[in-house]
Amino acid sequence: MTPAPASPTDIRLPPAYRLIAMDSVGSTNDEAKKLADQGAEEGTLVWARKQTKGRGRHGRTWTSPRGNLYLSLILRPECALAEAAQLGFVAALAVGKGIGAVAPPLLEVTYKWPNDVLVHDRKVAGLLLESKTTAEGILDWLVLGVGVNVQSHPEDSRFPATNLIFEGVGPDVDEAMVLQAFCRQFLTLVNRWTEDGFAPIRSLWLPHAHGLGKTIEVGLGMEILRGTFRELDETGALILELPDSSRRTIAAGDVLFAA
Ligand code: BTN
Repeated sequence: MTPAPASPTDIRLPPAYRLIAMDSVGSTNDEAKKLADQGAEEGTLVWARKQTKGRGRHGRTWTSPRGNLYLSLILRPECALAEAAQLGFVAALAVGKGIGAVAPPLLEVTYKWPNDVLVHDRKVAGLLLESKTTAEGILDWLVLGVGVNVQSHPEDSRFPATNLIFEGVGPDVDEAMVLQAFCRQFLTLVNRWTEDGFAPIRSLWLPHAHGLGKTIEVGLGMEILRGTFRELDETGALILELPDSSRRTIAAGDVLFAA
């Protein structure tokens, strides 16, 4: 764990956050999980300039060179774990709106279920939610890991990827700007979610949903289902209409393809 060369005092975050800035770390999620276990308060945010063991969903590697954004935020929501998973939609929207705040208005941001952020149909950001519940089944902490491709993206990813500079946000946009924009948006959206529940978040997410109304393929572990993406239900589950017109409610999985 090496301290960041750039002073974190240059970063302006709302007072709800406590920033821990690092130059390099294995995984900001692992660091945040350690801190959460030691009792770190909600709003503790681990930010690293690069990761040597960045992790994606389903045990995949998240390639993490300098120039992109890697952050993990500790949250302690007072709700059941299933409900807390809706924070993934809150965070995806905060990334999308944060990008909108630093980018030209013509950049098209969409959201791929459950928590990916796309620019011009290519993945620009991904989220990794990890949590711990007590022996009594109460949610202790949730770590929200966010990776945004600002300057580079992997060429060999399962779903096509891109980065913000390539998409024309302007060469002066850097990861520190995206970090600050994300944090401002997340605070507004998470307060809305706490006060009004998932409905307003769903209403913001749905008009920009990738593949809605189209044929999609959803990966569920070893199984792949093909059907029409009909709805996002009131909990955040994807409603897939199968070729025999039956409907499947999918709470966890990955959209692999949208025609
Ligand atoms: C995915 O789309 O598979 C999720 C990618 C999540 C990557 C971020 S980068 C910051 C945080 N630390 C990690 O090791 N992973 C998450």
